Amino acid sequence: AKYEVGYLVGSLASQSINRKLALALVKLAPPDLEFREIPIRDLPLYSYDYDSNYPEVARQLKQAIANVDAVLFVTPEYNRSIPGSLKNAIDWASRPYGQNAFTRKPSAVIGTSPGAIGTAIGQQHLRSILGFCNSPQMNAPEAYIQFTPGLIDDDGEVTADSTAEFLKTYMADFRVFIERVLTVLPRQG
Ligand code: FNR
Repeated sequence: AKYEVGYLVGSLASQSINRKLALALVKLAPPDLEFREIPIRDLPLYSYDYDSNYPEVARQLKQAIANVDAVLFVTPEYNRSIPGSLKNAIDWASRPYGQNAFTRKPSAVIGTSPGAIGTAIGQQHLRSILGFCNSPQMNAPEAYIQFTPGLIDDDGEVTADSTAEFLKTYMADFRVFIERVLTVLPRQG
């Protein structure tokens, strides 16, 4: 693989539609991108009391981010923001002070919701957070996916051709973006 991409799913739900979307994106991505999930489920709630002694699960989170060329966030919108579970993971990864795992790490955000605006406001919040974390973000295309029943099956197959085509383009553009960023900011980890 030319580039390694870690993806974070913002939902902890067993039937998560965003997990289905993540599966679909992996399948539709250019073949020289290699994907692995960066899990967030088992992280305790962060406090800076941990800064002097990070638990193993949080060390693994930071190492997993260091070990990839780019990060893809696939997240639901909860109450017009991102889920607390995802914010907690970002807080862990961003600390201790001076050891922020997202610095210079290219990222992209995407999400799906049954609602018509398809996580747009949640993504805007996430972009603000990633901006502060100094992650170079793919600005365009944006992807707000309204999830209708059956749009993506359990195997990650997208049943609507136009959506499949759009997501394929999104991932191809992400690959171009990663290449462009790494040309000026080589991976540190
Ligand atoms: C939601 N949902 C939701 N949807 C949306 O479009 N905007 C929102 O602000 C919210 N807020 C919200 C809060 C909470 C606490 C829950 C549980 C749900 C609905 C949400 O989009 C839906 O449950 C999706 O299925 C969530 O994605 P996952 O978890 O299935 O990937």
